[in-house]
Amino acid sequence: MVIELKIDKIIFGGFGLGNYQKMKVFVPYSLPEEKLLVKVKEKKKHYWLGEISQILESSPFRTEPKCPIFKICGGCDFQHAEYIYQLILKKLLVSDCLQHLSNIFFPPKNPLPVNPWHYRNKVQMMFNRNNNRIYIGYYQKNTHKVVEVSDCFINPVIFNEIKNYLNQFLNNNNLEIYDENKKTGNLRFLVLRQANKLKEILLIIVGRFYEKKIDKFYDILPTEIKERIVGFLFNINPFPKNRVLTNNFLSIFGRNYYFEELFNKKFRISVNSFFQNHYEATQLLIKRIIELIEPQETDRILDLYSGVGVFSIVLSPYVKEITGIESEKSAYNDAIFNKLINNCFNVSFQLGKCEEVLDSFDNIDKIILDPPRKGIDEKVIFHLKRIKPKIILYISCNPATFSRDLKRILEIGYEIETIELFDMFPQTYHIEVLGKLVKK
Ligand SMILES: C[S@@+](CC[C@H](N)C(=O)[O-])C[C@H]1O[C@@H](n2cnc3c(N)ncnc32)[C@H](O)[C@@H]1O
Repeated sequence: MVIELKIDKIIFGGFGLGNYQKMKVFVPYSLPEEKLLVKVKEKKKHYWLGEISQILESSPFRTEPKCPIFKICGGCDFQHAEYIYQLILKKLLVSDCLQHLSNIFFPPKNPLPVNPWHYRNKVQMMFNRNNNRIYIGYYQKNTHKVVEVSDCFINPVIFNEIKNYLNQFLNNNNLEIYDENKKTGNLRFLVLRQANKLKEILLIIVGRFYEKKIDKFYDILPTEIKERIVGFLFNINPFPKNRVLTNNFLSIFGRNYYFEELFNKKFRISVNSFFQNHYEATQLLIKRIIELIEPQETDRILDLYSGVGVFSIVLSPYVKEITGIESEKSAYNDAIFNKLINNCFNVSFQLGKCEEVLDSFDNIDKIILDPPRKGIDEKVIFHLKRIKPKIILYISCNPATFSRDLKRILEIGYEIETIELFDMFPQTYHIEVLGKLVKK
């Protein structure tokens, strides 16, 4: 069935949304105001899913995607929109989430443009075999089908180069690749992490069991790549689940961490510790955190979900005392190390889940929250209500859980001062949100 459809808006998930005879129709790779002929692919009870079969009236912001496999690979969602328009789409998308999920009518500020290509600090790619040829790529959207990628435009160029050398090496040595359907074979993923400023790279190969021959991969790399790799690790992951890295690492050589520099502070980041994905966007975010927290010499601050301690350490010179809380041992250990190498004597870290350790905190002036995608636990809201900080800064990479949690924070006596956006993930529908809430 083919229908004529006008796209009204883009929703969280990156799909365009139009209405056909009162039925909502979602269309990937469409843009607001476009008139389309849409082939209906799936009819659900409350919505249909379509595919563009012809563009009748194109958006003036539509552009040719850079990547030849843009619609096949699951990595990007917005390459068909000019970059500056992507920023507007993201603002509209967050605004829509706030209104529809939480009845909050507050316009977020426009995100500033950042470097839109080759920006990712971390990448995870999958191995597959096709007719005796091994290839490396990403999962197709919503599937586990591996799509071969030659040069990914959001990966740093050096990541593409390492991937291509590895592809050659796996084929030349005819190494055993994991078969996800049969759950047999061995090698599964390539993981790369890099420091944007200090240029250090961690190279990780993931397999069900250690493959000795992989050690030789480093030898075939050219000197300029070798010089940047500070650690080569093998991660043992026999579990047929989605998680890429386990805690079981074997060191082939070098370290299991790299160093990055931000705001003249140095950070150790271990292979399993979180770090923001886009360096320039992270700089903009931190600059606003420093301004919006209105730091004073008497301030006692809590940095919840503190990771390797970036916010605490950067804020340390401006305030009396900061405590970070982090549940992952590896990030917590990095944070302790980082506070020492940066001489931050007024910073401390506590290992534990925020919802479980907040009981012991009182007399706090300001709180920063930067939870993972699932947002904050109900118990954390309870403690915010009890502690009554003057300012709450809530940073999130998920506008849906952000909207849900913001509503709960408003209900305990706060009001929104600003909502700002940072384009941590150009070419995708993802966006980093920062909300400032003040006590009424
Ligand atoms: C989005 S990251 C933020 C890290 C840090 N603020 C930064 O910008 O580098 C979220 C962090 O929260 C940690 N985390 C997840 N659940 C947690 C919980 N319940 N309590 C404390 N930390 C948690 C994760 O390990 C991760 O380091």
